[in-house]
Amino acid sequence: MAEDAAEVGRRSVQSAYELTIVSPTFNERANVRALIAKLDAALAGVAWQVIFVDDNSPDGTAEEVKAAARDDSRVHCIRRVGRRGLAGAVLEGALASAAPFVAVIDADLQHDETLLPAMLDMLRADAADMVVASRYLEPEGLATGLSQTRQQGSRLATWMGRQVLRNDVSDPVSGYFMAKRAVWDVTAPKLTTEGFKVLFDILASHPDPIRVAELPYRFRDRLAGESKLDRRIVIEYVSLILNKATNDMIPARAIMFALVGSTGFLVNVAVVLLLDVTHARLPFWGVQLSAALVAMTSNYLINNVITYHDRRRKGLALLSGYIRFCLLCSAGLFVNVAVASFLNDRLHAPLLSGVAGAAFGAVWNYVTTALAVW
Ligand code: GDD
Ligand code: MN
Repeated sequence: MAEDAAEVGRRSVQSAYELTIVSPTFNERANVRALIAKLDAALAGVAWQVIFVDDNSPDGTAEEVKAAARDDSRVHCIRRVGRRGLAGAVLEGALASAAPFVAVIDADLQHDETLLPAMLDMLRADAADMVVASRYLEPEGLATGLSQTRQQGSRLATWMGRQVLRNDVSDPVSGYFMAKRAVWDVTAPKLTTEGFKVLFDILASHPDPIRVAELPYRFRDRLAGESKLDRRIVIEYVSLILNKATNDMIPARAIMFALVGSTGFLVNVAVVLLLDVTHARLPFWGVQLSAALVAMTSNYLINNVITYHDRRRKGLALLSGYIRFCLLCSAGLFVNVAVASFLNDRLHAPLLSGVAGAAFGAVWNYVTTALAVW
């Protein structure tokens, strides 16, 4: 009996995993079994495991993974409750791994899993510390699984990402890559848990440039379920790039707040024009005041769903937050005018004073609403 237990123990030591594949899921029930079968076929002879990190999908993805795990001990599930976010899910899966190599792959079968052995071989041979599967390397990488707009958007995102990275990676927003565990361990404390751009964040956060290799592949069409990439994800990404470009000095949230604020400026101008063409019977100050109120309202609502998506206010709290937001931003306007007048009285430089006043007002709005509204 005792010998049997020792034997079992030895076997489990020998079967330690060399490769962990992390697959983030949200409503991917229909793809789970298919992905496991594809991994099994692609990774014959490799000691691998797959960790699905599911954000409590309403379609029962986690139950499906656990059912599969009862048939196959290489399949694992981390079910997160009360949290959402691709980046955080990927990170949690990677940090749960003890394997020397950790890969990320989408669960929706858009990533070509037959690339995994080649990626693994490059890391084993120490040819690189990270291998990225790229949609933009010829000849295979033609990103056919993306719509025309998504393709252009993705190329723009790629170009922007490359401007602030010290690595020359053709697809820095790829969701498919493999890295040595040390890369994950070193960057983990610095990564954002929101948004989609895990790879970009790792590349930008590593203390020294990572040795990266790339392999081309053809991005497949999604057959089951739907994409979760939306406008908010894109704004988050732009904010992250600017945050990295300023060396972490300006928080991503403040950048998002400023981006939303600039939409408020456009709303303000649009309302003035609208009231003008409809010949509304309002004195000019009435026009400007209405426009400012509409802009403030739209700013509040957009910030609530984008900038503060993770702690957005609903119902009565949405209303009380709105009142506080309007009061604080009105005070911000006062700060703006006060600072600008103070400077202009002394410097007689209206443009400079105006810009300084606006900057003070913006910082005031961001800081006070961050503290008192969200
Ligand atoms: N746990 C968790 N939580 N998983 C998520 C979440 C989330 O909030 N959002 C999305 N996922 C999972 C999906 O279930 C899927 O397995 C994977 O993350 C990718 O999500 P998709 O919604 O299919 O993304 P996509 O195909 O539109 O975007 C692809 O291209 C982007 C770059 O343009 C992905 O490869 C992204 O990773 C990549 O950044
Ligand atoms: Mn997808």
